[in-house]
Amino acid sequence: MANITFPKDLRWGAATAAYQIEGASTKGGRGLSIWDTFSHTPGKVRNGDNGDIACDSYHRYKEDIQIMKELGIDIYRFSVSWPRIFPEGTGEINQEGLQYYHNFVDELLANGIEPMCTLYHWDLPQALQEKGGWNNREVVDAFAHYSKVMFQEFHGKIKKWITINEPWCVSFLSNYLGDHAPGNTDLQLAVNISHNLMLAHGKAVTEFRNLSIDGEIGYAPNVEWIEAFSRKQEDIDACNRGMGYFMEWFFDPVFEGNYPTFMLNWFEKKGVTLEIADGDMDIIKQPIDFLGINFYTGSVGRYKEGEGLFDLERIDIGYEKTDFDWNIYPEGFYKVLLKIKDQYGDVPIYITENGACYNDGVEHDRVKDERRIEYLKQHLVSIKRSIDSGVNLKGYLTWSLLDNFEWAEGYNKRFGLVHVDFDTLKRTKKDSYFWYEKVIRNGGYEI
Ligand code: FCB
Repeated sequence: MANITFPKDLRWGAATAAYQIEGASTKGGRGLSIWDTFSHTPGKVRNGDNGDIACDSYHRYKEDIQIMKELGIDIYRFSVSWPRIFPEGTGEINQEGLQYYHNFVDELLANGIEPMCTLYHWDLPQALQEKGGWNNREVVDAFAHYSKVMFQEFHGKIKKWITINEPWCVSFLSNYLGDHAPGNTDLQLAVNISHNLMLAHGKAVTEFRNLSIDGEIGYAPNVEWIEAFSRKQEDIDACNRGMGYFMEWFFDPVFEGNYPTFMLNWFEKKGVTLEIADGDMDIIKQPIDFLGINFYTGSVGRYKEGEGLFDLERIDIGYEKTDFDWNIYPEGFYKVLLKIKDQYGDVPIYITENGACYNDGVEHDRVKDERRIEYLKQHLVSIKRSIDSGVNLKGYLTWSLLDNFEWAEGYNKRFGLVHVDFDTLKRTKKDSYFWYEKVIRNGGYEI
């Protein structure tokens, strides 16, 4: 038995996103988003599921906030549905949408929970997709405007802001791999969009700084660790490309003001080029106040000609897996955090997502999800190791508070500390919820 204890000032939290939990997709003057369109297109989401009702948190937020309070978290990450604020993406503001988030944030604050607000967690207004979506620089400006409205409206109440959640998913997963809305499969398009997203981030940060309001702003890339199978240079290079896709591609522009040459060269080999307008990199390269990191999985990889986009073969050496079939790779979490520190310095870090999919159901009012507890234990060890190694880690937010609409997987993949019955919408706290509550209360656990 060993004690794993955390600094007293480490912030503890949980995370969700609007389209995954709110439901009420046609209520309160909300416009449509690309996820409404995508999920209502046959064949795009497992079982034809959609977020029309989801967890119905739009109506049940008070109940959810009590669940958070009893959990003892002091920070909650949620996202704002852009089409609730601007049903057409830009133009007329929907006051009812603003009011909803005021009520919600006021309720959080009244219960002593700090809001951390993500401005873009994937629900682009459909009206903007019709103008070309993130491939159109007008959409970048629309995002900056929406962000500014949110900063002006909520300053003083919301002090932690995240511009874009997982720019890799928004660009490559959604526009090259085609798995997420809008479902394109065009590498050039995905690369263009990745740049526009970074620009959108930079423009939102500019708006934030210009208003000189109290608070902090950052963004939240998803990262993975890919361990080289051997010390052969070709294996190391292939893994670096695989990780560069998630990390350097989205980190270098912000921290260094340029895109990594090894990735630019590789994309060029694939017939893809990146056009950068004058001044873009200055907008992107602005100091941020914190970096959000989303981590779930990792793997071992080696060079294999023609394999995937990067000549990289992932080797399954028999990892245990979650019910999403993602490898459990907690050492990768530690290595990723050290890599970020070594390459980009002591930027304050919040773990904005980390958690596991296990589909255990309710039996006699109880959910015995020991495997989630085990996953969290292992990953929190990596957090402890990174703090002891000098990583400037400010907070840990687990994904997710509730089981919810898991994008292309619909309701078939459960990440919550709280079980949701999607027929009755009943919430049942899982064993992992009670475990996490104790970790927060005691500032650690025994392993
Ligand atoms: C991340 C997303 C989040 C959730 C988890 C499981 O990529 O940001 O919304 O779906 O994966």
